[in-house]
Amino acid sequence: LTSDNRPSVIWLHNAECTGCSEAILRLANPYIDTLILDVISLEYQETIMAAAGEMAEKALHDAMKKPYLCVVEGAIPTKDNGIYGKIGGHTMLDICKKVVPGALATIAYGTCATYGGVQAAAPNPTGAKGVDEVFPKATIINVPGCPPNPVNLLGTVVAAIETVVNKKPLPKLDDLKRPLAFFGETVHDKCERLPFFEQDKFAPSFDSKEAKEGWCLYKLGCKGPYTYNNCPTKKFNPLDKGVGVSWPVQAGHPCIGCSEPKFWDTMSPFYEE
Ligand code: SF4
Ligand code: SF4
Ligand code: F3S
Repeated sequence: LTSDNRPSVIWLHNAECTGCSEAILRLANPYIDTLILDVISLEYQETIMAAAGEMAEKALHDAMKKPYLCVVEGAIPTKDNGIYGKIGGHTMLDICKKVVPGALATIAYGTCATYGGVQAAAPNPTGAKGVDEVFPKATIINVPGCPPNPVNLLGTVVAAIETVVNKKPLPKLDDLKRPLAFFGETVHDKCERLPFFEQDKFAPSFDSKEAKEGWCLYKLGCKGPYTYNNCPTKKFNPLDKGVGVSWPVQAGHPCIGCSEPKFWDTMSPFYEE
């Protein structure tokens, strides 16, 4: 994919914590500089771009003059015409209306962008929504997680490039528009604590010797059986090439269902000790 003809990418920020950007900045295979300098042409990204103010706005408008992919991070506040989220005097809703419908494809990155995330948790005072809900006719691929594994974004970006540049079919998605390659199995399916689950060996508390020995965290609140994601196989924070060093359940924390819609409302309480 490394070429002079790198696809342009516009990366929008909405209502969010920027943890999804933090996650991609820790990508290690390839490193972020390879991604944004060799694979794509990142035209606009408020967290890491050098431009500010009018120069930044110009960069966004210039980028929209040629074909582009869009990555959206963060939920879109929609209540009261979107006044609860503004950038440079424009509502996030208006910025998305200008950018998303014209994109070759849009990747909603992170659970805020895919399903509204914590902003959309009851009572959702700002009317926060995921990108797909606001733009049902746009070509959207959802890469949820709070934060998502950056490897899943990288794979999705590459697949989207293959689609829009090389005319390959879109990656296969589930009914929530998540790539099956990354979200086709539950966390539970590949969990290293699964043998203990199958033997009815459940850790009685987080600080128990059984938890440290790898017993299942289900009775402490783990939502792995209801959550589709590849955390046990890809893990997080790779030191170099290859899989990451750990993931929540390996570290002794239950899966809280962070890649599922409305998980703040439907998966809580997260702890059942
Ligand atoms: Fe932050 Fe999670 Fe939203 Fe990403 S999905 S911006 S990590 S709250
Ligand atoms: Fe399943 Fe969670 Fe137990 Fe792992 S710790 S086996 S994901 S219930
Ligand atoms: Fe999220 Fe569960 Fe993975 S909480 S990071 S889907 S282990």
